Amino acid sequence: MHNVNANGATIPALGFGTFRMSGPDVLRMVPQVLTLGYRHIDTAQIYGNEAEVGEGIANSGVKRGDVFLTTKVWVSNYKRAAFLRSVDESLGKLRTDYVDLLLLHWPNEAVPLAEQIAALNEVHKAGKVRHIGVSNFNRALLAEAVRLSDAPIVTNQIEIHPYIDQSVMLEAAHKAGQSVTAYYAMADGKVFADPVLKGIADRHGHSVAQVVLRWLVQQDGVIALSKTVGEQRAAENLAIFDFELSKDDMAAIHGLARPDGRIVSPDGLAPAWD
Ligand SMILES: NC(=O)c1ccc[n+]([C@@H]2O[C@H](COP(=O)([O-])OP(=O)(O)OC[C@H]3O[C@@H](n4cnc5c(N)ncnc54)[C@H](OP(=O)(O)O)[C@@H]3O)[C@@H](O)[C@H]2O)c1
Repeated sequence: MHNVNANGATIPALGFGTFRMSGPDVLRMVPQVLTLGYRHIDTAQIYGNEAEVGEGIANSGVKRGDVFLTTKVWVSNYKRAAFLRSVDESLGKLRTDYVDLLLLHWPNEAVPLAEQIAALNEVHKAGKVRHIGVSNFNRALLAEAVRLSDAPIVTNQIEIHPYIDQSVMLEAAHKAGQSVTAYYAMADGKVFADPVLKGIADRHGHSVAQVVLRWLVQQDGVIALSKTVGEQRAAENLAIFDFELSKDDMAAIHGLARPDGRIVSPDGLAPAWD
């Protein structure tokens, strides 16, 4: 697996996601995927499974220092005191003194962005967080976050799959030296029935999941997240670093994007998307 370098952070290009995973599944899967060779785990306060992620890493036999661990502060914890308390709680659950990356999970105007960014910087300065970033930010919010922050923003975690055109967000990230972390790669399962993706997968002798993940990590500065409760699928999804998609394959997959392709846009949280 290669790493993505972004504003001083070195981030494994494929991360194991834990959204919508029960505690027992996380406890079972985290040690398995670390044994398989994953070195990047993504969780969030709102997923309710940080404790199992921490226990899973501790049980895995892989050293904490060899794992790139991300968590995200939930929007109800954005005021300074709650923010700081919530980060300490996350670290306790995760059984660690630091996370590699801490993200603001969604934009939220109830607390000024300056206060949110100041809190991110405070935990960064305290050594509780190696790198900071955001999630679900549009370009204007991202630029404002960069302006407000002492520590560099290393990633914006957003929805990316073949049915959504995120080229504008990718370009903005590149210009700012940031990475983009892709979530919902499988488009909530829609990719599996796609004839174009099936055709490319058949020609390469790989699965549709592998083609989609490969398409992501083959793009400059893009990190892919992948979640599964199946060990075989986790192994399959990791086996994407020994083949390459052609320029035509890449273009054909980009060509699947459509204006209504976005899936995740919760009322009250989603910004005006670019
Ligand atoms: N920042 C945010 O707001 C945000 C939002 C959403 C997600 N995320 C992050 O991004 C991660 C990935 O997104 P996601 O959880 O939606 O998952 P995903 O990687 O897009 O996968 C969606 C579904 O595809 C299935 N799948 C995975 N590999 C497969 C394979 N090889 N063959 C067939 N099916 C396969 C999985 O089902 P099975 O488990 O049944 O295999 C999974 O539930 C999350 O876990 C989370 O860490 C962040």
